[in-house]
Amino acid sequence: MIHRCTHPIWLFLFLFNIVYASPYDDVQHVMPYRDHGWFSPYVKDALTTIFTNREVQIVIELGAWMGQSTAFFAEAVGPHGKVYTVDHWKGSLEERDCYSSYIPTLYTQFLSNMIHLNLTENVVPIHASTSEGVHLLKDIFADLIFIDASKDAHEVYRDLSLYIDHVRPGGCICGPAWSFGEVFPNGLHSVGYAVEKFCREHGLRYETDGWFWVIYIS
Ligand SMILES: C[S@@+](CC[C@H](N)C(=O)[O-])C[C@H]1O[C@@H](n2cnc3c(N)ncnc32)[C@H](O)[C@@H]1O
Repeated sequence: MIHRCTHPIWLFLFLFNIVYASPYDDVQHVMPYRDHGWFSPYVKDALTTIFTNREVQIVIELGAWMGQSTAFFAEAVGPHGKVYTVDHWKGSLEERDCYSSYIPTLYTQFLSNMIHLNLTENVVPIHASTSEGVHLLKDIFADLIFIDASKDAHEVYRDLSLYIDHVRPGGCICGPAWSFGEVFPNGLHSVGYAVEKFCREHGLRYETDGWFWVIYIS
């Protein structure tokens, strides 16, 4: 057995599998397409304006759920672009309560949706927390980073700090839910609070219309 495993062909196959294996190949049973998520027409319009005015080929997305926003990005970057989407597919705290039945198959549902939409060539799932995922993306620099994972202000601030260096000069980092969190009764700060604080501390310019926000990197 040891002899067989160390034969060059086994070693080659082992390394080939590590380097080229696709997560989509692991889906044993493709689930029926399910269209559920939070990608609103409002956010879609704001992003469409960015794509119209800028050259965007590489996107890093934090928070995919079943892939509504991922599918938009994959179509917007076109066949030569790439979307790296980081999610642990465990749901955010609030989603785990409200959508608990979706969580056990959430990742398979995401992969299945990408298969149905024929987007497996340019959507690269990074099955990790945003803190772990940044290490797996160490050589990837994006024209646009979309932050839509946890809406806890501390975690949004952490995600901004972790990913800001992955924006190419001339690119942007953006997201929805500026005012999300203001309604929390336990004194948690909003997403907007985190973005404002981060920009103030780093001398960056942001724009917001009260829900969608964007920071341009020069
Ligand atoms: C609001 S949903 C994303 C919605 C999605 N963009 C859409 O278009 O429907 C938030 C996602 O972020 C993921 N998430 C939350 N906190 C995370 C973290 N710390 N690391 C990785 N993923 C996280 C959840 O698993 C969930 O899928």
